[in-house]
Amino acid sequence: MSKDQRQQVAALFDRAAVTYDDVGVELFQPIARRLVAELDPLPGERALDIGCGRGAALFPLARAVGPDATVVGIDLALSMVSTTAADASRLGLTCDVRLGDAQHPDLDPASFDVIASSLVLFFLPDPGAALEAWRALLVDGGRVGISTFGDHSASWKAVDAVFTPFLPPQMADPRTQGEASPFATDAGVEQLLSHAGFGDVRTTTMTLPVRFDDEDHWYRWTWSTGQRRMWESIPAEQHAATRAAAYEQLDRCRDGDGRIGFDQDVRFTLGRR
Ligand SMILES: C[S@@+](CC[C@H](N)C(=O)[O-])C[C@H]1O[C@@H](n2cnc3c(N)ncnc32)[C@H](O)[C@@H]1O
Repeated sequence: MSKDQRQQVAALFDRAAVTYDDVGVELFQPIARRLVAELDPLPGERALDIGCGRGAALFPLARAVGPDATVVGIDLALSMVSTTAADASRLGLTCDVRLGDAQHPDLDPASFDVIASSLVLFFLPDPGAALEAWRALLVDGGRVGISTFGDHSASWKAVDAVFTPFLPPQMADPRTQGEASPFATDAGVEQLLSHAGFGDVRTTTMTLPVRFDDEDHWYRWTWSTGQRRMWESIPAEQHAATRAAAYEQLDRCRDGDGRIGFDQDVRFTLGRR
């Protein structure tokens, strides 16, 4: 991914920031909570959340380490940073939320005990080099934890397929990078961490039920996440037909309660400096 594409990712999340993680769908927060639980931050530890978005990992980190500890969140999207900083102060959490590039974080070496990064690494131009840079920010013995997407329900792939013809090939997406991507397997992500110099590398996983009240709830949700890129790449005159085609597929993805959804596998990869 070029620098230009990285700016496109930042601009995409800048547009999504206001409703991101705020339309009543449980996805980012349960994933980030589990990531923080795996990292087990202790009171007083210095914590960093890379690609903090709307604070899904940052806020649990801040609660775990307590008000006197250093907690920093960086993100490349300005609206994410400003909205999350305002949320932190409304919640009474002491966090330093600032603009920063996960590929080249401009932070002091050996200044953190714990680094979390939830659903970010696959957006970066060079994930291996980024992990090396993150390792340098940790003290000896410091822990890193990242979350990435695994597979999701086979039935949902027909919904994804509605958008495939419109997606720009260079648009990095964790679900479309193919089997050659390091993010296709647990071992691939573990290798990224090992090659970056981390030890004690391990993976844990969970399967998360992601559910929507109805088709329109799903539609609002797609606009609130990076998936809004799907809609933005569809010519205006084809929007209504594509939405109707997606709704037809969604109707086939109902659970026993009549809600629409899919089950998402998530992996948590942990390492130590
Ligand atoms: C899928 S969201 C995850 C946000 C948050 N960690 C969460 O779990 O809800 C990806 C986030 O990574 C940020 N991001 C993407 N590329 C980045 C980069 N190069 N540097 C910093 N943040 C980046 C986006 O702006 C967005 O907030």
